[in-house]
Amino acid sequence: MESIILIGFMGAGKTTISREVANLLNCHRVDMDDVLVERIGSISQYFEKHGEASFRQHETNLLKEAITQESVIATGGGVILQEENQQVLADKKVIYLKADPEILIDRIRNDEENVRPNAANKNDGEIKDLFHSRERLYEQLAKITVDTSDRCPQEIASEIIQQLA
Ligand code: S3P
Repeated sequence: MESIILIGFMGAGKTTISREVANLLNCHRVDMDDVLVERIGSISQYFEKHGEASFRQHETNLLKEAITQESVIATGGGVILQEENQQVLADKKVIYLKADPEILIDRIRNDEENVRPNAANKNDGEIKDLFHSRERLYEQLAKITVDTSDRCPQEIASEIIQQLA
């Protein structure tokens, strides 16, 4: 199986939907943020101590590793920023989980498990700006775009599998 890569902004549901897709396909799953936390510790603390650029290097190394593992991969929202990553993703099964920025902001603010350094210290307008600055990249890199605004993870996962068939 060729790896399936879920991309999208923070709060798009990449982790949850990757679980559903991996269950339905009965295949391995890689959650890049989880693996990065195992490797470098808390992402927020890492950003503070070493800066975003250093985090991005770890993320790129992991993406290149993960892509070879025939998995469903939940990426971090910023994976599309690095040119090197864009090249890696160019010919892969990339799925963009799209949602309205208002919904994304709501999900980000209500998520007590994840503190996201690129959202925690921003107001809603700044998060929307970040979303719009990345939107085109998500769209360009995706082979399939799925709207996640008001549908349950099971429905979204089934749609992804149908579209890939
Ligand atoms: C980031 C998104 C996060 C995580 C890091 C940076 C971003 O992942 O990789 O905090 O810049 O969008 P999620 O999209 O899973 O929240």
